[in-house]
Amino acid sequence: MKKNSLVYNAIGLLLLTATACSDDPGLEPDDSNKKEYGEEWYTGGKVGTIFNSSSRAYKQPMDIINDDPVLYRAFMRGEEMAGKSYVSAEGTGYSGLGPAYIRKSCIACHPSYGGHSQRVDKFDTSDSRNGYLLMIYDPTSPTNALASKYFTGMTQTRAVSPFKPPIDESGVDLQWKQYVDEYGNKYEDGTPYSAGTSYEGTLIYPVITVAQDAILFKDFDMSKHAASIEATIGIYGVGLLDAISDEDLRAQWAEEQERGYAMGKIGADIDETGLNPYFPGKHPGRFTYLLTRATLDNGPGANALWNITNVTRPERTYNYITDEYAKVMSEDTEVQKILGLSAKNIFDNLTSRELKPEMTQQDFEDFMVWHRGIAVPAARNLDDETVQHGRDLFYDAKCTACHRPSWTTRSNYTPMPALSNQKIFPYTDLLRHDLEMKEPGRVQVCRTTPLWGRGLLQVTSGHTDMLHDLRARNYEEAILWHGGEAKLAKETFRKMSKADREALIKFLGAI
Ligand code: HEC
Ligand code: HEC
Repeated sequence: MKKNSLVYNAIGLLLLTATACSDDPGLEPDDSNKKEYGEEWYTGGKVGTIFNSSSRAYKQPMDIINDDPVLYRAFMRGEEMAGKSYVSAEGTGYSGLGPAYIRKSCIACHPSYGGHSQRVDKFDTSDSRNGYLLMIYDPTSPTNALASKYFTGMTQTRAVSPFKPPIDESGVDLQWKQYVDEYGNKYEDGTPYSAGTSYEGTLIYPVITVAQDAILFKDFDMSKHAASIEATIGIYGVGLLDAISDEDLRAQWAEEQERGYAMGKIGADIDETGLNPYFPGKHPGRFTYLLTRATLDNGPGANALWNITNVTRPERTYNYITDEYAKVMSEDTEVQKILGLSAKNIFDNLTSRELKPEMTQQDFEDFMVWHRGIAVPAARNLDDETVQHGRDLFYDAKCTACHRPSWTTRSNYTPMPALSNQKIFPYTDLLRHDLEMKEPGRVQVCRTTPLWGRGLLQVTSGHTDMLHDLRARNYEEAILWHGGEAKLAKETFRKMSKADREALIKFLGAI
């Protein structure tokens, strides 16, 4: 786990061969101090960046963790909490799975801890490539509201016997449909999109349906609802995103309203009094595609440890299930017979607010050290001429209108003070934009996905699938699905020469 001497050798070599000069101190290895790169290489700031571009690049602790035995031990224990497959049997340290659940572990959906899970052809949660979350929602409601009377927000398709899952997975059908854009899937110069690949000249998007008879609730009408899939985003660097102040986030929003185009939407305020020991009170949502989570301590990861597996802990002594589920399960005579309990007993047990914690508070705190302390891989090749040209194109095409290159973290990030005052390069405004994609599912107005570390997706995860439902099979397609508020960016890219398109993508691959 210690710093790799190879990395330092590589830096040395690079400094020896670096000749070109630039006025931008961010791009060149800094000549005034031969040991340091310019700031843009430190994607996660000086403290949150790790020089590692191996297949484990998204899993590395920051150096402040490596260098502190107490934090390091907590990180390793936390990593175990995230990596283990939870079981239903009691007393193993990873006990408490069920009654209903989504997956058995974090890594079932975040296999390399980041980037994205992989596009699949079948919705099968036992397939380790499938990191999709399934959601059931009302497409006629203005906010695509979840069918939360019946289903948990993240829909469960698994259960521990004798309980049954709310949805029988074999009734979930995933289809990839072909899409042809107004330019016949061709660039201005006549080249088909993704030229040279087996899917040249095509674009695809998912359509997901759930059969009525796959649903546990007999009075639930699937024909009035829709299903949607969302892919993972990435875990590395979330501590740094958490360390950006609410004021700076609100200022970014205000600036976008003022400029009058691509005016992002800010996450709704979430009251976290009692839910975040460091920053109680209201905070605008900044995590997840729909900005439904505000701070890391009450964030998607902190919650997932409980609601993905249904493992209770001192602060969450109840099941993540709906009353409707408890009702149907308690009235099921098969369940009654196997458990040897009455309907009332089963209902009361399932809906109790005082269940025995299955995980200790210390386990959770260690988990949060891991969660907060995963480093962002440093940028690579920023001193390459083509990459520098691609960087210019990224700015000229106004990608930065939404993919804001840098932020400086707050000065007093108490949960991990070392993450304060860090200039980071996540390439996101943490706001939502409507790209008017064909059939986007629930995620119509999506948070600008951070682009940091994405260039290592192939190395860490063996694929380059992107966007919230993984419809893009490479960088080209990810950009070509930008319409709506980002239409101009797509148009600019479409009109570029082949060399320029390649340079822009090379830059994306370097950050
Ligand atoms: C069922 C698959 C699944 C499992 C299991 C899962 N996640 Fe996720 N995770 C997702 C998806 C999908 C998203 C993004 C979708 C969204 O907007 O909700 C996400 C988002 C996140 C994010 C938000 C990142 C950001 O920048 O907004 C974090 C952090 C995270 N997960 C951590 C975890 C941790 C930690 C665990 C285990 C305790 C876990 N996840 C388990 C699917 C999963
Ligand atoms: C109007 C805001 C906006 C502009 C301008 C914009 N983007 Fe995006 N970008 C987004 C949003 C929102 C997403 C997430 C969309 C989704 O997943 O549905 C995204 C996603 C991406 C992704 C996929 C990331 C991933 O891991 O899924 C890439 C790559 C990307 N943008 C590159 C670019 C480039 C290059 C440009 C300029 C040519 C650009 N974007 C301009 C808002 C924007």
